[in-house]
Amino acid sequence: MKSPLLFVANWKTYYSHQQTLHWCANHKKELLQLAHASGHHLVICPIATTFGSLTPLFSDSPIKLAGQSCSAYSAGAHTGEITAQSFKEAGCSYCLVGHSERRTEYHESNETVAHQALQVIMQNMTPIICVGETEHERTQGKTTMIITEQLSVVLKLLQEKNFLPSQLIVAYEPVWAIGSGKTARTEEIGEVFDLIIALAQNSFPSVPVTLLYGGSIDDETVKALSSLEHLGGFLIGKASLDFQKLQKIVTWFNN
Ligand code: PGA
Repeated sequence: MKSPLLFVANWKTYYSHQQTLHWCANHKKELLQLAHASGHHLVICPIATTFGSLTPLFSDSPIKLAGQSCSAYSAGAHTGEITAQSFKEAGCSYCLVGHSERRTEYHESNETVAHQALQVIMQNMTPIICVGETEHERTQGKTTMIITEQLSVVLKLLQEKNFLPSQLIVAYEPVWAIGSGKTARTEEIGEVFDLIIALAQNSFPSVPVTLLYGGSIDDETVKALSSLEHLGGFLIGKASLDFQKLQKIVTWFNN
């Protein structure tokens, strides 16, 4: 049997608080069955107000919860932010950092993302570090440079602070593939995966790296990516809102 994959459902702000609770109540049984039957790891990133209800719903289950972003600060006067400590106390095991929507809409810099990752690790959670180039950057031949910059700043800060993470999870999400219906080709993803592995091993040779791909993954587009070398799983937006689609994506990797 192949190693289990990590499927991360990023619900963004698609569902409201109540809609999220209804979805989880309706699909809890099927989700648990899916996780048990497939042996894969399932993580949900819901809207943050729902953790108080979802944590007890999924406690002692293979369904894990993740924040969608967190503060770069540990505490203090940062109105509107949610700290990594709060995500931890609310029951999260993971937190996304550096999602392209945060980088674009909220101007989060590589340095901010690095501090967010540090905060997450300091709380004994695992950051899911998102990296990816825009279409313009790809056509200009800048993909390697952009991914290197985005990831190196995080790795450098962890090294400076003497933090040896127990694992690194990096999600490669080309900005042009997110929500566009276009997925990157296997060769394009493979090149970036190789780069990420090289960067991670250069900084933390003994730390295992899990590589996710994200960007317009659904029950059809996922099929072309099954043969991808070093694939550790997927970060799935829109399609993960539909339980049947999520189920098809996960079960595609059962054989
Ligand atoms: P998408 O989103 O699957 O809807 O393209 C992926 C993401 O933003 O993580």
